[in-house]
Amino acid sequence: MTLRHRIDIGVGIVLVVLAFARIASAAPPQVAGCAGCHGVTGMGNPVSGFPALAGLPTSYIEQQLFAFKHGSRVNAIMKGIAQPLNAPQRAAIGRYYAAMMPPSRPEPSPLPGGEGAVLAIDGAWMHTTKGVPACDSCHGPFGLGVGTAFPRLAGQPASYLAAQLDAWRQGTRNNDPLHLMRNVARQLTPAQITAVAAYYASLSANPPVLPEPGTTSGEK
Ligand code: HEC
Ligand code: HEC
Repeated sequence: MTLRHRIDIGVGIVLVVLAFARIASAAPPQVAGCAGCHGVTGMGNPVSGFPALAGLPTSYIEQQLFAFKHGSRVNAIMKGIAQPLNAPQRAAIGRYYAAMMPPSRPEPSPLPGGEGAVLAIDGAWMHTTKGVPACDSCHGPFGLGVGTAFPRLAGQPASYLAAQLDAWRQGTRNNDPLHLMRNVARQLTPAQITAVAAYYASLSANPPVLPEPGTTSGEK
């Protein structure tokens, strides 16, 4: 190998190292360990039931990391991970995942129906003050999320969604503003939890266009 070749290879290595340093500097260092469970694209892992974080609101992610650390949301894995994080680190992680766009995918056609769809779109409250309001009335059409307080449900793993509803019923997740979700979850039967979790899991986290909203055809 000539000296010229060695210099070329040396320059090449330096450029590659610099390129990696630039990519890495965009992400807070803590997120390197998150991808193993929450995916390199931030879309989670449906088989293992690890939730997607991509596109969730910054402040929602911060709040959840705070809750895992301080015990108002109980999860053994996430407690250990959230423990060393301070407020600026939680904020940087929140911004990082909030900026990640879930991959675009059309809604399933035909849209899923059945009890899950009815609960999501109409609720089960029979025009009384008791009962379950439509999930979409807080979580937005097709469960795509609203503002900073109401997270997206669409495309989350079914087992994850069901586990959260169980956690509110049992009081191991107790960090929701005004206990909105505790009051909803406590009124759901196990069969309703299974149905509504399957419904949202089947929807797209980022549909390019929305189908006609608000109908559960044939159900009313
Ligand atoms: C070993 C697997 C694993 C690793 C690594 C991991 N997580 Fe998690 N994460 C989970 C599981 C499991 C849950 C669901 C916990 C529950 O059921 O409450 C979760 C939930 C979360 C949630 C709540 C999501 C929501 O929709 O409410 C956030 C935020 C989160 N993780 C952030 C992180 C961050 C940031 C990292 C890296 C610093 C990380 N996780 C690393 C397994 C993991
Ligand atoms: C009155 C408003 C409201 C209604 C109605 C509502 N939710 Fe929620 N939901 C919330 C809020 C607020 C949060 C965020 C809680 C937090 O910050 O910890 C949430 C969070 C959730 C989560 C956790 C998401 C995650 O990423 O961990 C699930 C699952 C959920 N809701 C399911 C449902 C289902 C299913 C229904 C209908 C049966 C429903 N919600 C109806 C307000 C509502």
